Amino acid sequence: MVPVRAACALLSLAPLLVLGVPPIWTQPEQVHLSYPGVSGAMVVTWTTFNKTESIVEYGPLGGRPFEMSTKGDTTVFVDSGEELRKMFIHRVTLTGLKPAAAYLYHCGSDEGWSDVFSFTALNDSISFSPRFALYGDLGNENPQSLARLQKETQLGMYDAILHIGDFAYDMHEDNARIGDEFMRQIQSIAAYVPYMTCPGNHEATYNFSNYRNRFSMPGQTESLWYSWNLGSAHIISLSTEVYFYLEFGLELLFKQYEWLKKDLEEANKPENRVVRPWIITMGHRPMYCSDDDQDDCTTFDSYVSGTVWSEAGMGMMGLYQVRRGRKDTKPPAPGLEDLFYRYGVDLELWAHEHTYERLWPVYGDKVYNGSKEQPYVNPKAPVHIITGSAGCRERTDKFNPNPKDWSAFRSTDYGYTRMQVVNTTHLYLEQVSDDQYGKVIDSIWVVKEKHGFSAWF
Ligand SMILES: [Fe+2]
Repeated sequence: MVPVRAACALLSLAPLLVLGVPPIWTQPEQVHLSYPGVSGAMVVTWTTFNKTESIVEYGPLGGRPFEMSTKGDTTVFVDSGEELRKMFIHRVTLTGLKPAAAYLYHCGSDEGWSDVFSFTALNDSISFSPRFALYGDLGNENPQSLARLQKETQLGMYDAILHIGDFAYDMHEDNARIGDEFMRQIQSIAAYVPYMTCPGNHEATYNFSNYRNRFSMPGQTESLWYSWNLGSAHIISLSTEVYFYLEFGLELLFKQYEWLKKDLEEANKPENRVVRPWIITMGHRPMYCSDDDQDDCTTFDSYVSGTVWSEAGMGMMGLYQVRRGRKDTKPPAPGLEDLFYRYGVDLELWAHEHTYERLWPVYGDKVYNGSKEQPYVNPKAPVHIITGSAGCRERTDKFNPNPKDWSAFRSTDYGYTRMQVVNTTHLYLEQVSDDQYGKVIDSIWVVKEKHGFSAWF
């Protein structure tokens, strides 16, 4: 009788015991891929809320599942919101992958495995013609293009995605739960193809900590700036935000500028430029735009004195300029337009404005078309595309009714851009309208028989 009585007593305590036990969060979530810039490699990143090991098990599609296993590292990220929420970010770099081969994988540990995903190891041939989807300003709320992008990615239409800043709106909100949910939303894209990023103004809170901790881009800058190669393209990702958030260090602006100069110099060495002639940059805030937004576009060509409202709601900000630099810093900070022109950057991708805008080849506020009939055949200045209308809670922006001469095509439809670097001379861009059920509303071929500074003359 005694054991039965003891059992009954324990059972009566059970609800109290259950109440005192917190859930265990060892199940992997927010799985996403990135390319570390090394042939045959891929980085898998994910999150758990309790400490676990970081393991990826994988194998070639059609072969023995999970025949290979790689361990990685875990870092603890403590969000700076008042709850100081803690998460474990797992990173595993897979190496020795066969270029262009497909793999199945899952990630986690013996305390919990993710679903099974697949990816294709990036083709490292310089004659490869990679296909990209490009966009910025995609949020947790009103992510209008997301479903179409998920489906197209899973149909195998893209080799990589470029997200040109502004994620989630904002990742730090609700003690970073918005960031968690956004990373879960994009898993259906980012677990299948490398999801390559740059920071935008919506990542600035707590010194970009959610951005720096959640993504795993190449290089040693916590994903702030880096470059990588694919097909015949050299792709540079940069932070325009170093020109705006000086409270996080003016030295970052100069450090990035020096890095950009060195990277462009290297990419322009004849032996490099001949195999990767396309130099493509991506940064969040554009150098030119014609939205009617009373800030970046309206003040694009002058050194503004006084104060300007920032979109991030961070308060009133001082003078600024991505294109021409800042004169209010000591020493004055150089802008990026001259640098990119001097090193023959072919294509500059931007977002931030919640619209799509294609520019004629432009430098110094002047149009330099290849010819009147064929503006993008041997253009005499870089081509700029602004693609920031993927969808977020801020909706789309309105245009200034009187754009400058460099504005070639504009749309306020929600959507995103597709790009294919076809070969060393031909690059194709098209704009997809999600409002018009996937209709292609704009397209161009950029054709260049010559690349580099000398191509401008
Ligand atoms: Fe922005």
